[in-house]
Amino acid sequence: MQERLQKILAQAGIASRRKAEELIREGKVRVDGMVVTEMGVRVDPATQKIECNGRPVFSLEKKVYILLHKPAGYLSTVRDPQGRPIVSDLLPNIKERIYPVGRLDLDTEGALLLTNDGELAQAVLHPSREVKKTYVAKIKGRPGSKKLAALSRGIELEGKKTWPAEITVLTSEKQTTTIQIIIHEGRKRQVRKMFEAVGHPVLQLKRIAYGQLALGELKPGKYRFLPPGDIKLIFKK
Ligand code: URA
Repeated sequence: MQERLQKILAQAGIASRRKAEELIREGKVRVDGMVVTEMGVRVDPATQKIECNGRPVFSLEKKVYILLHKPAGYLSTVRDPQGRPIVSDLLPNIKERIYPVGRLDLDTEGALLLTNDGELAQAVLHPSREVKKTYVAKIKGRPGSKKLAALSRGIELEGKKTWPAEITVLTSEKQTTTIQIIIHEGRKRQVRKMFEAVGHPVLQLKRIAYGQLALGELKPGKYRFLPPGDIKLIFKK
């Protein structure tokens, strides 16, 4: 979420709002390495690097890492002008300014990482890190082996081929199939679009893991703090 730079500095305990404006005017504040002297510039502290007098601004704020089981029906955002249910409604006692790392669709449930550590968020989302996301999708119908092979090799979606996916059929019912799919891309509604593209729309979707960090027994709407060892699991292949 973007905020005025002077407000961020004040909230971080660097200086009063007025003193923060002075620091900005004097060229003491950098955003992503660039000096900002203009007043009122809006910055996102979760994704941008802010420094004052050469020191990171959030060095005093405790970093928190949370794994939430997002229920369906909640937006993966910390603010909604329309007043719809948002994930922060489920974390009322968290004082730190945490943000979701990526998003899950309104109708998707499952593992959602939230943090105030912008560097970690960028690492998780950056394609070069190839963080695997595991989903369980209940889809309409029973796709044959050709379709499953195509999905796992990669299919054309909006003019671009998807990266190879790991596909495992978990159960087959009469009119539906439950499939585990592991991808490391994060295109918008990717899993839904992939199954839709082969004629098997998704009926239910749940993300069960980032890398080797699994949702486990966490119930919908519940969350847990992640110790450093668990954060490492995100990047484990
Ligand atoms: N793919 C989707 O289609 N939806 C999500 O929420 C996540 C991945």
